[in-house]
Order: sequence, then C-alpha cells, then structure tokens
Amino acid sequence: MKTALETSFTEKPFLQALAGQKTNAVPFWLMRQAGRYLPEYRAVRGEAGGFLNMVFDPVRAAEVTLQPLRRFGMDAAILFSDILTVPLALGQDVRFEEGEGPVLGELHPDRLGLEKFDSVMAPVYDAVREVRSGLAREGFGHTALIGFAGAPWTVACYMVEGRGSRDYAKVKTFAYDDPKEFSRLIDLLTTATARYLSAQIAAGAEAVQIFDSWAGALDDDQFRRWVIGPAQKIVGQIKREYPGVLVIGFPRGAGALYADYADQTGVDAVGLDTQVPLSWAAREIQTKRPVQGNLDPVCLLAGGNALESRTKKILETLAGGPFVFNLGHGVIKDTPPDHVAHLARIIRNWTNS
Ligand code: CP3
Repeated sequence: MKTALETSFTEKPFLQALAGQKTNAVPFWLMRQAGRYLPEYRAVRGEAGGFLNMVFDPVRAAEVTLQPLRRFGMDAAILFSDILTVPLALGQDVRFEEGEGPVLGELHPDRLGLEKFDSVMAPVYDAVREVRSGLAREGFGHTALIGFAGAPWTVACYMVEGRGSRDYAKVKTFAYDDPKEFSRLIDLLTTATARYLSAQIAAGAEAVQIFDSWAGALDDDQFRRWVIGPAQKIVGQIKREYPGVLVIGFPRGAGALYADYADQTGVDAVGLDTQVPLSWAAREIQTKRPVQGNLDPVCLLAGGNALESRTKKILETLAGGPFVFNLGHGVIKDTPPDHVAHLARIIRNWTNS
C-alpha cells in the first residue's frame, strides 16, 4: 500500500516537479494569484471590511485561496495570508491601509515574544484545513497546497522601517551598527518562522515557500549572514520534523548569489526572479535542483504577443528539466484576468518534445 505522501506525490504534478521529477505537463501557479486583480476577491474583501479581517477568517481566507483555481486551474493553491502576520503575532502593531500597503507600529524588540504566537495564528492554521477540505470538495484532487512565510530578513525590513522602503537604509544601518542586537531580532524571527511553517504543514500544507523579497538589498557578506544563515536553520528545522515536505526558497534579487543560496540553504527548489537569465538558471541551478519562475509580471499585465513569446521562451529553456512555471514576482493588481487565462492556455498547450 502507498503511504499518504507517495499518493499525493504521484497525483500532484506540482509536488512531482518539486521532488525533481520531470513531468509531462508543466505545473504552474502564480505568486499573488489571489488578489485585487480578481473582482470576486474584491467582493470578499469588501464584505470582510479589511485585509486582516480576511486573513484571520478561515472561511474567507479559504474562499479567496480557491478563487483563482476555479478560473485558471493552477496546479497549486497558496494559502491566502501575508508575511506580516508574524510580526503581528510577535506583538508588533500591523495595519493595512487601503491603497497604502502595510504600516507597522514602532518596534520595541524587548516587547516581542512568542507567548501569544500560536493563539494569534490559530485561524491561519484553520484556514489551511479549510482549504484542504475545499480542494477535496470542489474536485481539485491534483492541486497541491503551499504554505508560506516571509524570510527573517524581509520581515525585519518591514519591522524596522515600519513600511516599504526604497533603500532600506534604516534596517541596513541597524545591521551594520549593531549586528549583535540585530541578530537577536533575526534569531527570534527564525524561530518563529520555523514554528509557523511547521504548524502550517501539520495543518495540511504540502510544500512551503520562504519569501525573501528584499534579499537583493544586501552585499554578499550581509547576504550570507542574514539570508543564507537563517534559511539554513529554518529548512533544517522543517526537515527534522517533516523530512518529506519540500521547501522552495525565493531570494528575490540575489543575482550571482542565487547559486550559493541554492547550494547552501538546503532548499529543495529555488524561485527565480524576473532578472535571472534563463540559460544561466538552466546551467547553474536547474542541473542541481528544480527551479520555479520567472515571467515578468509586467509582461503578464501587457499580454498579447509579448506574453506568448516570452512564455514560450521560458518553457523552451526550462521545461526540459524539473520545473514549475511561475512569475518572477507577484501578479500586479491591474492585470486583466483574461491575460492570466491566456497564460494558462499557453502552458497547458505546451508539451515537452
Ligand atoms: O495569492 C498569494 O500569493 C497568497 C497571498 C499573499 C499575500 N501576500 C496577500 C496579500 C502572499 C504570498 C503575500 C506575500 C507577501 N506580503 C510578500 C512577499 C512577496 C512579495 O510580494 O514580495 C510581501 C513583501 C508582503 C507584504 C505586503 N502585503 C505588502 C508590501 C502589501 C501591499 C502591497 C500590495 O500589493 O497591496 C501587502 C498586502 C497584500 N498581501 C495584499 C494581498 C492580496 C493586497 C491587500 C489588499 O487586498 O489590499
């Protein structure tokens, strides 16, 4: 008899590709596939009366997680949540203002702690269970569920800056001036992130992705210390508890450091940002592990011939090895849903020769 894990691997092309197997059809999903470009998302957000109300309501969070699958039939769902639930659950104030993005309260490192972490996050784990039963109920038997968290460095960027930033001067100055104190913050985030991802897996997530959206802001020494080091620890902890669960790392903007990230962190697969050259990725990364990516979200926004030719170029270069098609960053909110449908058709019509 097959174990549960074997069953889900052979039935789910996304998990097969992540495990390093070449799949006949190319599996795909899109970062930020649930979101404001979908009118049905905007309707749920309106009813909920705010972003965090949706994130911490398991039924609504599961509903918006499933919305893109109903239209486009992706091979993976990604839990609807946000990377900034972690600072919230550690005790920092986090708000999402319409049209403004996240705004965090002042950081007091000595007031952060894990005491309330699991109780604040309980609805997120309930949402994972809700999505798994929704997938089964709606006949998405071949669709995998991805859990996720922000990487410590990227989450620290928001915690220290208080919002998005152009140059990350405040958080980088903290790291340069007082590496000891900064490493206390990164260590707390590393512990919290490993715990958060493990709990998502326990609730039913079949793979997890670590988003390091601002990895590209660091020089190579800082990158090793604040990006590679924490990722190693998080992956190690997850693998000790759940050896069969696959981890995708997405160190956006890592450039030439992508190779060291892939080799040293222990991740099973690497998410490529838009700028990573395809032939370089095929040669330097995909020969060792599966890759995921990396269509420019603006190319999806533009649609038409550019979308068609670039998508085919990505498939020609990377679909010969273990590969998951994705964007190089998240779906942009003005993207016409028709363009996403067009992209899904191109990928579905592709066959490896
Ligand atoms: O569909 C999915 O991909 C799952 C849900 C998801 C969201 N955020 C929902 C969201 C995921 C995986 C994230 C990750 C996330 N959140 C990252 C890493 C990926 C990246 O984009 O680099 C980061 C940096 C954040 C922090 C964050 N959350 C920002 C900067 C913003 C504002 C910008 C924006 O697009 O509005 C958010 C808000 C947010 N998170 C929205 C969604 C759908 C928009 C909220 C709304 O409805 O207004």
